Amino acid sequence: MAIYALGELEPTIHPDAYVHPDATVIGDVRIGAHASVWPQTVLRGDNGYIELGERSNIQDGCVVHCTRKDPTILGADSAIGHSVHVEGARIGTGCLIASGSVVLNGTVLEDGAMVGAGAVLSYNSHVPSGHIALGVPAKTRPNTSFGPEKIAGVVDSYVERAKRFRAELRRLD
Ligand SMILES: CC(C)(COP(=O)(O)OP(=O)(O)OC[C@H]1O[C@@H](n2cnc3c(N)ncnc32)[C@H](O)[C@@H]1OP(=O)(O)O)[C@@H](O)C(=O)NCCC(=O)NCCS
Repeated sequence: MAIYALGELEPTIHPDAYVHPDATVIGDVRIGAHASVWPQTVLRGDNGYIELGERSNIQDGCVVHCTRKDPTILGADSAIGHSVHVEGARIGTGCLIASGSVVLNGTVLEDGAMVGAGAVLSYNSHVPSGHIALGVPAKTRPNTSFGPEKIAGVVDSYVERAKRFRAELRRLD
C-alpha cells in the first residue's frame, strides 16, 4: 500500500476505513471510519491537510490536494466520483461531486449540495444546500435531478463495496 509520511506529517487512517492498495496517501490526510479510497487516487497532504469524513468515498482516479490556507475537508456521508480533481475545498455532509469535475480553492459545498458530471467550479465557488452546480464554468440551480436519497444510495453502496473488497480482493500477478 502506498501510504507515506512526509517528515512529521503522517496519515491517520481509521482501522475501519478502506484504502485500496493502489491508492496513494501522503502526509496529513485524515480518513474516518468506513470511508473508502479507490485505485489510482492520490491524496497529497503536504501543505495543509485533507480530511475524509465517516462513510465518505473518493472513487478511482481522483486527485485531491490542499493548501495551508485552504485544507480540503469532505464531510461525512459524501461521495467524490471517478476522475475528480479537488483542490482546497470544503465539502459538507451528504454531498456528491460527480465524475470528471474540477473543484478549485476556496470553494464551499453546503450540506446536501451536488456538482454534476464534468463541471468546473472556479475559486471560491459556493453551492447552497439542495442545489447542483453544472457546466463550465459551473452555474448553480436547485437540484431536481439527483436527490438526497440517490446520494445516500451511492454512499451506502460504497460502504458495502469496501467491506467486499476488504474480504475478497486478491492480487494475482
Ligand atoms: C446532473 C445529472 C444527474 C443529469 O441530470 P438530469 O436532470 O437527468 O439531466 P437531464 O438530462 O434531464 O438534463 C437537464 C438539463 O441539464 C443539462 N445537464 C445535464 N447534465 C449535465 C451536466 N453534467 N453538465 C451540464 N449540463 C447538464 C442538460 O443539458 C439539460 O439542459 P437543458 O434543460 O438546457 O436542455 C448527470 O449529468 C450527473 O451528473 N450525474 C451524476 C451521476 C453520478 O455521479 N452517479 C454516481 C456515480 S458513483
